[in-house]
Amino acid sequence: MTNTPLTDEQIYGHASPQHDKRYVRDLSFFRDTIHSPSRVLYPCCNIDATPVKAFPDAHIDFLDDSPEKVAMFKRRGLDAVCADVNTATFDAPHDLVLWINPGFMPSNDTVLRYSSSDGYIIGDNHYWTGRNLLDSDAVRLVGMIRDIDPKLTTDPEVIKDIMRTDVRSLMIFQKK
Ligand SMILES: C[S@@+](CC[C@H](N)C(=O)[O-])C[C@H]1O[C@@H](n2cnc3c(N)ncnc32)[C@H](O)[C@@H]1O
Repeated sequence: MTNTPLTDEQIYGHASPQHDKRYVRDLSFFRDTIHSPSRVLYPCCNIDATPVKAFPDAHIDFLDDSPEKVAMFKRRGLDAVCADVNTATFDAPHDLVLWINPGFMPSNDTVLRYSSSDGYIIGDNHYWTGRNLLDSDAVRLVGMIRDIDPKLTTDPEVIKDIMRTDVRSLMIFQKK
């Protein structure tokens, strides 16, 4: 009996990186109304390639510590590095860093280490990323993206309420 290597679809349930419809919409809103980034970093991306759809004109670096996931991105011609997000280095800072469901609670130092000054950080609250940044003096809160008008909620108390019931809501910060 010969051993046929498993396909990406058999291993991950998907043959190629995926795109999240809600986040394509939310990040496109950010791009059109707040900032159109030129260099985006998405750490702890797993097989989520959503920023490719939201930021078609940007250079996007994907980062994950799983060699198989990184290889999947590279096979599709995307820029991906296999590294620990606590210690990785890049030749230039990013004007947008996405912290979406990173799989662990990052320190604020880790969350901010890849951002340019004035750069934006967008995070959800799966691992308290957004909540922890609310307490940081190194950033200013821009707001939380909602799917109702107005699409941007800026009151920190309202944001704290929403993040408790909807950890997927994206919060925008700007590095000072
Ligand atoms: C829960 S998955 C989330 C994937 C993606 N952000 C999403 O929302 O679909 C977390 C990913 O983070 C990666 N990861 C966890 N700790 C990491 C670290 N210290 N450095 C780099 N990647 C890490 C894991 O390999 C995994 O692919």
